[in-house]
Amino acid sequence: MRHSWRSYTGEPLGMDIRERFQVLISGMPPPPFASRLRFSLIDTGAEGRKSVKGTYGVIRGATHFLAGSVKKGNMAFEDYGYAFESLILFATSLGLGTCWMGGTLNRTMFGKFMGLENDELLPAISPVGHATQRRSILDTFFYISAGSKNRKPWSTMFFLDDFSTPLADATAGAYAVPLEMVRLAPSAVNKQPWRIVYRDGAFHFYLCRSGGHVSVFKEVDMQRIDMGIAMFHFHSSAAESGMDGTWQIVDPGLCSLPADTSYRVSWIPKS
Ligand SMILES: Cc1cc2nc3c(=O)[nH]c(=O)nc-3n(C[C@H](O)[C@H](O)[C@H](O)COP(=O)(O)O)c2cc1C
Repeated sequence: MRHSWRSYTGEPLGMDIRERFQVLISGMPPPPFASRLRFSLIDTGAEGRKSVKGTYGVIRGATHFLAGSVKKGNMAFEDYGYAFESLILFATSLGLGTCWMGGTLNRTMFGKFMGLENDELLPAISPVGHATQRRSILDTFFYISAGSKNRKPWSTMFFLDDFSTPLADATAGAYAVPLEMVRLAPSAVNKQPWRIVYRDGAFHFYLCRSGGHVSVFKEVDMQRIDMGIAMFHFHSSAAESGMDGTWQIVDPGLCSLPADTSYRVSWIPKS
């Protein structure tokens, strides 16, 4: 059900919804690699359906934003993507619109709202609110230019044993649903940089880089955030089907990797 939405009705979030976010944020479990995260639901004071300050005119009519910070560190971006996507999907479950934004935001302005400290980064934010029925012109422009409705086929993203054999959904068995949820995940400019190799019962996640600002923008590694989002989709939908696992860095050391592709993390089922 989740899709990025950039046009909102201007109706503020009700008190009950704001409280539900506060409860969720204050009880959030630590992310897979225990980075120090902070999240906040921000009221920017925007009114009506006008474009919201600090979003370069991309977002209209949103009164509230989810924002967050992470302490700089090795797995900071993956952890941020993982945890922030849980907030995004919670908002979706309440019927609210969202849109990950790592590029079209004024970091100084949102950093002030967050009280950003020197050792922290503000990787991305999202409006959260009541979506309009139709997209604004700029929203439609972003939607079309990023090719947002398209997703890559399984055969180019999921593999068996190494990168030479595509993984069939019959072979994936019960893991076909978690993998499909990875396929549907949002990513910066819809690049879908994740690649997964299923080998000896474990799922090894790789990052296939695109160049330029899609990859790293103002110190923020967008595609490692994408990786964290994919990790959350995989883990939470596996958990929903009763399959538990842990995230570990155990590079299987495959000898031939596709161009611009590197190992990031593995999901090991709990036996
Ligand atoms: C890490 C990240 C950063 C993004 N940054 C922006 C952004 O700065 N501005 C924007 O309009 N959309 C941004 N997006 C939204 C993507 O363009 C969108 O998720 C993608 O095209 C897929 O479309 P969908 O979310 O509708 O499924 C971002 C998404 C992610 C995951």
